[in-house]
Parts: sequence; structure tokens; C-alpha cells
Amino acid sequence: MSVEEDIIKKARELSSYIIEKRRDFHMHPELKFEEHRTSSIVLEELENLGYEIHRTEKTGIVATLGDGATVALRADMDALPINEENDVPYKSQVPGKMHACGHDAHTAMLLGAAKIIADMPINGRVKLIFQPGEEGGLGAKYIVEDGYLDDVDAVFGIHVWADLPSGVIGIREGPLLASADSFRVKIEGMGGHAAVPQYAIDPIAVAFDIGNAYSKIISREIDPLEPAVISVTKVEAGTAFNVIPEYAELWGTIRTFREDVRNFIVDRMKKITKGYANSMRCKAEFEITMDSVPPTINDAKLADFARRVLKNLGKIEVPERTMGSEDFSFYTKKAPGLFLLLGIRNEEKGIIYPHHHPRFNVDESVLWMGAAMHALLAYNYLEARK
Ligand code: NI
Repeated sequence: MSVEEDIIKKARELSSYIIEKRRDFHMHPELKFEEHRTSSIVLEELENLGYEIHRTEKTGIVATLGDGATVALRADMDALPINEENDVPYKSQVPGKMHACGHDAHTAMLLGAAKIIADMPINGRVKLIFQPGEEGGLGAKYIVEDGYLDDVDAVFGIHVWADLPSGVIGIREGPLLASADSFRVKIEGMGGHAAVPQYAIDPIAVAFDIGNAYSKIISREIDPLEPAVISVTKVEAGTAFNVIPEYAELWGTIRTFREDVRNFIVDRMKKITKGYANSMRCKAEFEITMDSVPPTINDAKLADFARRVLKNLGKIEVPERTMGSEDFSFYTKKAPGLFLLLGIRNEEKGIIYPHHHPRFNVDESVLWMGAAMHALLAYNYLEARK
């Protein structure tokens, strides 16, 4: 039996272990940077497999095995502040918290891979990254800043994917997920009586116009073939029907596939906000409120490599891009990387809900494939570099 056949066989044999672990994580979801229970189970499972184990800051675990050229495999561990509505025996036991993105499955799949890898010949070093805080926590950024990617030659991550049928592997080169920014705009007018607007400066009227002007950046200033989104998602102003307030605020998000497009949009939003507000006698501030998440750009050579290596494991498709974002992009900025998708949609089993939905679920029968993908990618990558 070849090493690759052996990997696939072992992954299949680990199927019930992976499902059992996934259900355990699912029942005990932990939000970003609270993954204490999850990471202590990861630690326990990795013990006695021969890995050198580091606890990262903020509840992450990085485990390495071997020496030389280094391939990193990543799983994220955090859950979401959502109340689960599935009626399953392994339903979340924590009200208001749920693994509604599949990170429970990611952690379990990488634990399965850890067992396979510990048992297979490796011509280099494998680094397992159990990352905290993916959901709005920029956990990946901290892992990179702490130097864990400095000696990494290639990094792979897998996301279970509700838009792909169960067992289908999604591989796409170039941009796969978008950049994400969040912005806040504060407009200062002059309060007064709503019946005599001439004695006030109405910041709400100005906020409406600025919000509309943003949409013209997309429709009039960006190449129509280049995807970009500006969504105003929160508006706050006023206290009563007959009072013109002092302030109006807008919040929202910007999504793109290219950093130059992202920078152009931010620059235009700043100028429009300031220029329009000034012309209407208001003061305005525009700010980006959180660190920007870059777009996730898959390395073309690694995509080719993965298509070759995984062709005997399952059907491979080119998935659609999405304007959602992933902090895996911090890794792909640091080292050549590939973010793969594993289909988990199964209509017969009623597994049809999108990610972050209170009835999101995964078809567990294919999770062994995720472990096999990790191990096959690591083994073949290091063999190819020999
Ligand atoms: Ni996710």
C-alpha cells in the first residue's frame, strides 16, 4: 500500500473519532479568545503523539513535528454568539453560543490529521495551528505577529462549505474571499426644533446624502468587472420626532478582492464624507474602526499541486468566490497559502442552512476527508520539496 493509500485508509478509520470530537466541541461552544476548554482538549489529544507543543497567546495551540522545510495546517476553534435551533442530540449546551460556522469540525479534522501525521513518514516539518478568535477576533493576525509563520514554506487551511455538495472539494486559485473593513462616520450638525429647520443644521439629511454618495463610488468609480461592496448597516441619530439632533452616525462594511481597490474606496469615502459635510455646514469624521482583514488570495502553484494530490480523494470543483472574509488571509500574506473548501451540504439529511444560521449543520460523514486532505497535502508537499 502506498503512503497515500495508507493515509486515506487511516482517515476513514478515524471517522468516528473525528465525529465524536466534533460533537463534543459542538456541545461546548466557546466564543473568540475564550477557547480554554477546546484548546485543553486539543492539548490532551496531541500529547503522546510526539509533537512539540506551544500555547500561543490568547488560547491558541501550535504543535510541530519533524525538522526542515515546514508545511503548516490550520484549523480555527471559535464559535458564534447564536442560539442553536437544531434539534440534535449534540445540540449546543450553552444558550446563546453555537458552532454555526463549522469550526468545531475544523478542529476535529485537524486532530484526526494529527494522528495520521504522527504515524506517517515525513520529509520535513509539519506545523499544526489551532487558531483562536477567527470570528471577528483576527486570531490569525496574532499568530503571524508572534512569528509562528516565519519559518513556514506553505500553509493550508480547510473550511467546511455549505454551498458545496457533501464530499466535493473546492479549490480555486487567486482571490477566494474578500477583504473586510468596518467603518464609522460621525456627522455633527446643530440641533434645534424640527419645525424651524432654518435655525438648525440637520445632520440626518447630510447622513442620507453621504450614504447615497458612497454607492456611487461602486457604480461610477470602480471597474464594473471588479467586485466591491460598501454596505451601510447601522444608522443612529435623534431622540424625538420634533427635534433635529446634534449628531448622526453611520456604520458599515467594505469588501473587495484587491487591496488597491480597498485603499481607493477608503480614500474616496474619506474625501466624500468630509467634502460633502463641509459643503452642508457640518463637521464629519470618517474612521476605520477595526484592523483591516486582507483578501484571501490562493497561491496558483499550490492550487495546482492540491488538485493533483487530492484527485483520488474526491470530486474537485472550482468554487464561487464570496464577499465574506477569513482571517486566513493573514497567513497567505506571509507565506504561499491555499484555503480549500470541503462540501458538507446534504439535502437528504436536511443540511441546507448557510453558515452563521441558527440551523447550520455539517454532514459529518465526510469529515474524515478533511483529515485526509490535511495529511495528503502535508505529506506530498514535503515529498515534493525533498
Ligand atoms: Ni468560518
